[in-house]
Amino acid sequence: MIPVDVAAELTGRRVVLGLTGGVACFKAAEFCRLLVKAGSAVHVVLTEAACQFITPVTMQALSGQPVFVSQWDAREPNNMPHINLTREADAIIIAPASADFIAQLAHGRADELLSLLCLARPIARVPLLIAPSMNREMWAHPATQRNLRQVVRDGAQVLGVGFGEQACGETGDGRMLEPEQLLEELTASLTPNSLLGQHVLITAGPTAEAIDPVRVITNHSSGKMGFAVARAAREAGADVTLVTGPVALTTPQGVQRVDVVSAQGMRDVVVAAAENADIFIAAAAVSDWRPAHAAQEKIKKDGSGHAPVLEFVENPDILSEVAHSPRAQSGELYCVGFAAETENLQANAEAKRVRKGVPLLVGNIGPSTFGRDDNALLLVDDEGVMELPRASKRVLAKQLVAEIARRVSGDAA
Ligand code: CTP
Repeated sequence: MIPVDVAAELTGRRVVLGLTGGVACFKAAEFCRLLVKAGSAVHVVLTEAACQFITPVTMQALSGQPVFVSQWDAREPNNMPHINLTREADAIIIAPASADFIAQLAHGRADELLSLLCLARPIARVPLLIAPSMNREMWAHPATQRNLRQVVRDGAQVLGVGFGEQACGETGDGRMLEPEQLLEELTASLTPNSLLGQHVLITAGPTAEAIDPVRVITNHSSGKMGFAVARAAREAGADVTLVTGPVALTTPQGVQRVDVVSAQGMRDVVVAAAENADIFIAAAAVSDWRPAHAAQEKIKKDGSGHAPVLEFVENPDILSEVAHSPRAQSGELYCVGFAAETENLQANAEAKRVRKGVPLLVGNIGPSTFGRDDNALLLVDDEGVMELPRASKRVLAKQLVAEIARRVSGDAA
């Protein structure tokens, strides 16, 4: 399913979608549909080999634009589709990119319209994204890997590949990314790189504290806000590590995810990872307490009608610990906290910012946001208070990341 607000980055963009010979052409059809739905003008170019897998008719119907196959296409008044298609383009994405096509690119060949236009694109302005798709042996072959390194050196961006069952019946690396993943990658390449070179560490979701092997204490956090922030940070060019409690969410493309269960588990991962981070964003709803003694076996009813009495101990405060570490105190690590409140948002958020020792605290009303796709945020720092009005978590995450980037770069007004 397409995220409703992905259109913001893709609306009005001109995207050249190149298809080369591979079974994954069927996924390119869906990708084309998603792009059109997101508001992009999609100009499809197929190689001769791609036409063996999917017809220009299908791609024309989906894109709503004339499709190009040949460099001798007489429909162009000047007969130069390679120039006309690339001068106005915001990006070129080759999906699927076959091993053969990548080899052509590595050699700067121009014997088909698609390779020709890759060569003819204004290299400084039009990004070229390559989504490889091939059999696992072809993917692993030194020649392919060498060609991929070469196209990266020549300015293209090579996307990852998926692992799994392949059309040939073998299992391994080389599957083309899914349409939604391609959309995320393209969005990222069109987003300003405000966090380029920064390592951002993010916590998300609830934690679950064991009572016994089958029962836990947890909360209503869905993880959606933290995941949206992770995605936005990665799209802004950051290297992102996402430490998450138990959630039912897909990992954003390009984000390194570490799954944890308890607050103690989250603390251990975060404290170690914070050593290499530049920015720490604590969006998790960490359980404040855990049962003092988790039973080793399931607690059974004893027939007396009395419920067991649980004793609790306080969990470590992860944000506070990281924010008081020497790296955070010296300004090497910029810490951002979240506050889920039920009332007096501003006053509680301001007090929490001081108590946690963080430069920026993001307040929201907990119960009205848990599990929802939208939210409203209040940013509190030493300059004062800034409201990010109700919007989708995806939009808010992008705004928040932009605000953090401004503060980290010292551009805050
Ligand atoms: N946090 C944390 N570790 C904890 C508790 C909270 O890292 N053990 C972080 C959260 O990720 C969030 C911020 O601290 O960024 C505030 O969390 P919140 O639950 O609102 O505050 P608490 O510190 O738990 O205070 P209280 O529940 O009393 O409002």
